[in-house]
Amino acid sequence: MALIDEINKRRTFAIISHPDAGKTTLTEKLLLYGGAIHLAGSIKSRKTQRHAVSDWMEIEKQRGISVTSSVLQFDYAGCRINILDTPGHQDFSEDTYRTLMAVDSAVMILDAAKGVEAQTKKLFKVCRERRIPIFTFINKLDRYGKIPLDLLDEIEKILGIPTYPMNFPIGIDGKYLGVFDRQKNIVELFAEDTSHGQRERASEIFSPDDKEVIKRIGQENFDALQEDLMLLDEAGETFDKNKIDAGELTPTFFGSAMTNFGVQNFLEEYLRLAPPPAPRLSSDGIIEPEDEKFSAFVFKIQANMNPAHRDRLAFIRICSGKFERNMTVWHAPTDKLIKLAQPQQFLAQDRQIIDEAFPGDIVGLFDPGIFGIGDTLTDAAHKFKFEDFPTFPPEKFARVQARDTMKRKQFAKGIDQLTQEGAIQLFNQVGAGTESYVVGTVGTLQFEVLQYRLKSEYGVDILMTMLPFEVARWLKFSDDSKVTPTSLRGADRGMFVLDRAENPVLLVENEWALGWISDNNPKLEMSATPFAKD
Ligand code: G4P
Repeated sequence: MALIDEINKRRTFAIISHPDAGKTTLTEKLLLYGGAIHLAGSIKSRKTQRHAVSDWMEIEKQRGISVTSSVLQFDYAGCRINILDTPGHQDFSEDTYRTLMAVDSAVMILDAAKGVEAQTKKLFKVCRERRIPIFTFINKLDRYGKIPLDLLDEIEKILGIPTYPMNFPIGIDGKYLGVFDRQKNIVELFAEDTSHGQRERASEIFSPDDKEVIKRIGQENFDALQEDLMLLDEAGETFDKNKIDAGELTPTFFGSAMTNFGVQNFLEEYLRLAPPPAPRLSSDGIIEPEDEKFSAFVFKIQANMNPAHRDRLAFIRICSGKFERNMTVWHAPTDKLIKLAQPQQFLAQDRQIIDEAFPGDIVGLFDPGIFGIGDTLTDAAHKFKFEDFPTFPPEKFARVQARDTMKRKQFAKGIDQLTQEGAIQLFNQVGAGTESYVVGTVGTLQFEVLQYRLKSEYGVDILMTMLPFEVARWLKFSDDSKVTPTSLRGADRGMFVLDRAENPVLLVENEWALGWISDNNPKLEMSATPFAKD
């Protein structure tokens, strides 16, 4: 198959949602409808046994949640699908954000009873900043929830993105009978779910003016539907593929992942409208996926995914050209040529060695310790660098040190490794010596992971003291004079630290404290992430 055909059939995306909105269930339905599994429920039941599909690390099993992002690849209706999992626990990590750098679109799941929740907002924001298309699936329509029009309103008001409802539920709350498909102008009525969602659900399709529709749904429901549709046509957005592609309009679907209500239609429409692998910006201009020369970047590094292997994997997203096992590529940060041996792909816990892969695909590479997050790999004949990954502001902080000072060396090594993986951000408190570090993360779960991994991988017990800060600001003076604990007025209102590149950073408890510091240091410039180098 030609490279362009391989590219066009790929869909690489993440499902973003608040915990419990139905991400696992919908993922499973994708596998079910795609034929990758035969009975839904296998993943969920494993999840209840605390072995979810992406449970790789011991800690994930212990907690029954997924800490790391996993990748699933399978075929569906002529498409090659790569789903990148974003952990849904509220204590998620930077890893979650980084995963969104490697996708071409996102599916946002909302619980119809809860609407837009905290985690949805955070993840949505990152997708929005990347301007990737976002498709919304409003889930759990089989039970009581908010009114469909109110949910659309909520998405627009809270997330600031207009919606285009692709379908609209027919019937009354908690007892919907089917959907009206606004694109195809058809009514789809669902049969009773007799398999508890384990098998595909039967449905019947009608033209909207077929007399049978009124007979089936009743005059009242029919009239209510007409009214809602008229409202949507008059006051709602029009369908605009360009806006969808630019992430400025979210096609919205109503359904129930559990009972397979509207699921198949959602999947098919999503795959039809979602973009194939997109071009990427680099130091050499835009790199098109169909560029014959291979390029990729590392978006995630994971050590010890499987205790039996004790290995470290770097996950790359292929951006252009064809990947081949044992190929030699140029590694931008070290300016060296390296051989890509043992490339792996994943379906659930099964790993497979692969021989080739194409733009949009995710490949796990054995990492002898050379890769870092954001590294570019290219064909030796076309060297360039992809744009830098954004860093995400840490919101939780702790002071950590080795319990046994004799283990300082292993401690420093472990901390260094985890920083390189991007699991934590490291700071030094000015004047505090080198015995302890201040560690920043985007979620508190990362501290548990840190503690666990230092112990299991480096044999180091740590002492950890949570710090009361929630906001970090990188600092500089507009006249370029040095920011120090003494030159900054009010430095003692927080903790003055240096990041790994020795840039000054102030940790404070809240935005209010920032306001004081800003008012009292007229030359001060602050940033939630490191300042770009001039
Ligand atoms: P997550 O991965 O986003 O955290 O959500 P997950 O799919 O695990 O779903 C969370 C809960 O919501 C599960 O119930 C699941 O069965 C339920 N759920 C998912 N989709 C639907 C739906 O369309 N309708 C209804 N009514 N429920 C849905 P649970 O009780 O936590 O687990 P389980 O006992 O079903 O395994």
